[in-house]
Amino acid sequence: MSSKMLRHRLAFAIVGLWLAGFACHNHDDHDHDDHDHHHENNLHHHHDVPEPYRNMTNPLAGDAPAALLGEALFEQNCARCHGASGQGDGPEASTNTGGVVSDLTDATHGALDDDYLNWRIHEGGAHAPFNSLMPAFKETLSDEQAWQIITYLRHLVAERALGQ
Ligand code: HEC
Repeated sequence: MSSKMLRHRLAFAIVGLWLAGFACHNHDDHDHDDHDHHHENNLHHHHDVPEPYRNMTNPLAGDAPAALLGEALFEQNCARCHGASGQGDGPEASTNTGGVVSDLTDATHGALDDDYLNWRIHEGGAHAPFNSLMPAFKETLSDEQAWQIITYLRHLVAERALGQ
């Protein structure tokens, strides 16, 4: 097995453990006005995730084949702004996107819930309070593809946390 494969396996093992931790955490504090696992500095993370996205969880969490499919989808649909490794440094990040293109792999984004990420991918940023050029993908990606991308994003967060 190549060392790259090994690294990927390790990252998946870690993301799996870490998601399990999250599942417990969410279970404890699922009353709707508790936002303390969202980021405190970015107010838009405090926005309630609307229906029908609210409380959705990723059915493909930790699934390695899903993450691989998500990687290809990310490269096709997201990398031009968010960068090949998700850090907000794609070729279009410095053009007029209506906001700083998010680094999707930092600890803040790693801590965002599945429902928030899924909502933002589906609906984009063309509405308050975001008012950005983050596109809405609900017409171009299936629900399953959005979850595949989220599975891949969790993987990128874990890889980065491992310093890779
Ligand atoms: C045209 C550039 C562009 C493309 C393409 C794009 N995004 Fe974004 N995205 C942005 C900008 C700018 C923001 C920050 C403003 C906002 O939150 O709307 C953002 C924000 C986000 C957020 C919210 C982050 C936060 O801090 O709340 C997520 C999640 C996200 N993008 C995921 C994706 C995914 C996944 C794709 C591909 C399916 C994608 N984006 C494609 C520009 C883009």
